Amino acid sequence: MEAHVNGSPVPVPDSPATSAAAHLRDGLGLTGTKVACGTGVCGACTVLVDGSPAASCLLPADRLAGRSVTTVEGLGGEHPVQRAFAAHDGLQCGYCTPGFVVEASVFVDGWRAEHGDTPPGREEIADALAGHLCRCGAYEGIFSAVAAACAGEFDTLPDRDPPRVDAVDKVTGRARYSADQAPPGTWEGVVVRSVHPHARIRSVRAADADTPLVDLLPADRTVRYVGQPIAAVAAPTPGRARAAAEAVAVDYDLRPAVAEVATARAPGAPLVHATTDERAGAPSYGEAPSPPARWDGNVRGPGTVTWRGPTAVRRLRAAAASGNPLLVAQEYTTAAQLHSPLEPHVCVAHWHGGGLDLFASTQSVSGLADRVAERWELDRDRVRVVAEHVGGAFGAKNGISTDIRAAVDLSRLAGAPVRVSFTRAEELTDAGHRPGTRTRVALLADGDGDLAAMSVDSYGDGGVSVGSTTATMALLMYGRAPRRVRDYDVVTHRPPGMPMRAPGGPPMAWALEQAVDEMACRLGEDPLALRLRWDGNPKRRALYERAARTALWRGRPRGPRTGRFRRGVGAAASNWLYLFGPRARVELVVEGGELVVRTATQDLGTGIRTVLSGTVADRLGLPGGVRVEIGDSGAVFGTGSYGSRTTPSMGPAAADAADRMRAALRGRDPRVPERGPVDEHVLKEVLSTSEGLSVVGGRVRDRWGPPFPDTPDDLGVGRGMSGAVHLMEVEVDTLLGRVRPTRCWAGIAAGRIYSERTARNQCEGAVVQGVGYALFEERRHDPRTGAVLSDDLEDYRLPGMGDVPETEVYFHQEGFEHVPGGGVGLGEVSAVGVAAALGNAVFDATGWRPRDLPLRPDRVIEGIR
Ligand code: MOS
Repeated sequence: MEAHVNGSPVPVPDSPATSAAAHLRDGLGLTGTKVACGTGVCGACTVLVDGSPAASCLLPADRLAGRSVTTVEGLGGEHPVQRAFAAHDGLQCGYCTPGFVVEASVFVDGWRAEHGDTPPGREEIADALAGHLCRCGAYEGIFSAVAAACAGEFDTLPDRDPPRVDAVDKVTGRARYSADQAPPGTWEGVVVRSVHPHARIRSVRAADADTPLVDLLPADRTVRYVGQPIAAVAAPTPGRARAAAEAVAVDYDLRPAVAEVATARAPGAPLVHATTDERAGAPSYGEAPSPPARWDGNVRGPGTVTWRGPTAVRRLRAAAASGNPLLVAQEYTTAAQLHSPLEPHVCVAHWHGGGLDLFASTQSVSGLADRVAERWELDRDRVRVVAEHVGGAFGAKNGISTDIRAAVDLSRLAGAPVRVSFTRAEELTDAGHRPGTRTRVALLADGDGDLAAMSVDSYGDGGVSVGSTTATMALLMYGRAPRRVRDYDVVTHRPPGMPMRAPGGPPMAWALEQAVDEMACRLGEDPLALRLRWDGNPKRRALYERAARTALWRGRPRGPRTGRFRRGVGAAASNWLYLFGPRARVELVVEGGELVVRTATQDLGTGIRTVLSGTVADRLGLPGGVRVEIGDSGAVFGTGSYGSRTTPSMGPAAADAADRMRAALRGRDPRVPERGPVDEHVLKEVLSTSEGLSVVGGRVRDRWGPPFPDTPDDLGVGRGMSGAVHLMEVEVDTLLGRVRPTRCWAGIAAGRIYSERTARNQCEGAVVQGVGYALFEERRHDPRTGAVLSDDLEDYRLPGMGDVPETEVYFHQEGFEHVPGGGVGLGEVSAVGVAAALGNAVFDATGWRPRDLPLRPDRVIEGIR
């Protein structure tokens, strides 16, 4: 049987066992079509079948027979909407982009046939693209791209390059992600996971002796949650691999389990980690290793940090005893949030004579190569890790994850390349999450309305893992009034958390920033004015002043609101650390008469390719960009993308490389100036005679601040903190309990911005993720077994285009002049206060203070009744 795909006849299978998406990708090599959810919810796999959009992940391949199919490759990069997506930066990681542009091409064509060049509004665009999800949250750019394409602005090629250097690769489906890199003959690996919450595994056996099987159990042969990896098997096709996995026999010796925090804390509860060794080996969801703490049953902690702690506690106790109205003492909770990058965890591993090649979706190409070499005892130069494009990560693609372990060991057994790719259910169960929290905060103001004492106690609910930093993040807010913060963890037989975008930050702000708002209310003071008094951070102070002058703040409703729909505006502040990687290196080499930037960092969608290209071009005064090759561990060391440190590490190293290249070229041709723009013709000439010339730049030191510490994790903590202030406007439907965020202002202070559009996109995306955290995202589990129930994108709801506010981003660019390049990271600080601002907006609209996330309609109705 045959179909026409992008105009050419191709064979199609005659059985429904293969999906259209799998056939297009693995059978025909058309890897532009992505599979993210596998259940027709996210739209990443959208193709046109006889001109109509269809979810190819649900469509059996045999149904394509006799049909005409267009994939993203078939649009050829020529459709106006593809140019518009690139020009308006309607993308970040790019994994959802092919699906979006395929669907949008049909919408744009149809709209224009009916409406000419009159563009659609936000609601019409949101409706048209309601079947698509972008986890990075690039919706602002998508709105403007679709409107501009409808207005006919992209019928011809724009005269400017897109703001993101890899945008064209992403809108055409040419960008290769790790799952796209399976060479012919690649086997599929499938992970066998525990169906019980707590058991010792007596034995694991494949049904037949020829099936390669690798053991994934820990040394104590014990599983501690439903979904924990036990083993992995491989077979030449995905279907046979799944069958082999189902046929694996696991002999469980069941043990008692605790799946709820309350039962885990009860006296005599079964212990999740019983021995000192088990406790020390508990996985951590913190970004840095957790300092040692004592355990009491299933409770770890407290990890206490104080600043005049006894004074704080004495003052708070006295205020409580006397009923002081300027004591705000409240408890807040948050739900587990899942990273859910649209590209799942995936690894293609291949052992060959020369060593081990890995295509892995990772946040750290260099770091992973180091760790793989160590674990499998190989020379570092015999390991090659490639991640040309990474389809989102948000903290979860850390180190040697299960997919990587399984793929590497299975490839060795199978004697073939093996791909292990998490299903969405695996991704939503056992790829990490931001743990739920319960946080008690107490603030006391003195007679002058100054902060007199603060305490924050937070309990993390990270399943088998520990590492709460929620309370600790509050230590660094609002000056130096006496305070005590304590972090605890309660462990249960549920899957482990992982660091997620600003670990500890959003739950800290959800509690602290609402308590501050409450204090403003008690003092009868404007919430921004109170923060301006309490907060000594000069960058955030500039943002409060700026925020107070926005139309959104000045025009906010005042006085009691009545009627079904009530509008309100809330504010929240954020902080984050300035981190960097001292080992960052960038090579600049002359190849084919042009400059090429090469380093082993990786682009998760944040735009580091663009930063590298722009930095080198700026530094040498070149009009265009410079070619960038990243994502290959064979290059010089690149910083891992953790803790908002990629740009402030790689940017300065790129600038240093550019300076070294200038000096080298000047040595060959004195017409190259010592500083300032290099004349284009001079450059061309000198490059043409400098083939192979190469320099390596490094991360130069800050002007003042700490010396580079010799950290094994390539982690430097710099001076000064980044800050943010968010304003959120909501409309609360008091009848149905629905909260609709309508407008957001995001003020970000992270120093100089390297690449304005990609930075703004990241901050817009942080608002989208914060809105998801505030309103919808909630991992649910079976209270008896701890099994994750919300393991697809229907039950775990990510925000779509219709759910998000119109967002304006403002950058305050001062305050990091001591940092080479003048700027620090913003991926995390932009995410901390979003949900808190939304909570304060709901209070402003309704007079009801929300305490528990997410703000489901049932909670809102109950609360405002
Ligand atoms: Mo980390 S949550 O990967 O910045």
